[in-house]
Amino acid sequence: MFTALTASEAMFDLVRAVAENVGGTNMVTTVLEHPSAYDPMVLYADRLGKELRIARSNPVTGGVDVEEIIRLVDKDTCLLNVMFASNISGAIFDLEAIVAKARAIKPDLFILVDAVQHAPHGVMDLKKTPVDAITFAPYKFFGSRGSGIAWLSERMAVLPHHKLAAKPVRRAD
Ligand SMILES: Cc1ncc(COP(=O)(O)O)c(C=O)c1O
Repeated sequence: MFTALTASEAMFDLVRAVAENVGGTNMVTTVLEHPSAYDPMVLYADRLGKELRIARSNPVTGGVDVEEIIRLVDKDTCLLNVMFASNISGAIFDLEAIVAKARAIKPDLFILVDAVQHAPHGVMDLKKTPVDAITFAPYKFFGSRGSGIAWLSERMAVLPHHKLAAKPVRRAD
């Protein structure tokens, strides 16, 4: 788990960790993303000289079609950042298909998910959607403001990140 003061702050750190440390010349996201994910994608793509690819929304469904995202992913994709449910249209993304099809193109692709809107309403089954990080915010489900939480995969947790040099990469349980 990774904690921050907001889900947005957590997402900025997650995008930075992947963008700075994982190979690949492009980064993929969607036009529907909340600024919490969209803005760090713009920031780090620009800062690191990577191409930012943005999937368009479907004006009929209010979502983003799986194929519209997948056509942007290739073996040079460093990071896919896609939300679970839109705070604007309410559309729920077919995350299971997106993850499966994206990993069919690049098996070790890093995938980050903004689940701030979805987490209060739906189950996130990591066996079906084995992503690398999921952000959520307790205040969206009757918690208090002032914290943003991210669940991290094992490999995400050990990417270089801000920590004291003498501390272990992983906290001893
Ligand atoms: C989909 C989505 N992602 C991210 C956020 C940002 O969460 P936070 O306010 O904790 O930064 C929000 C906030 O409304 C949201 O709706």
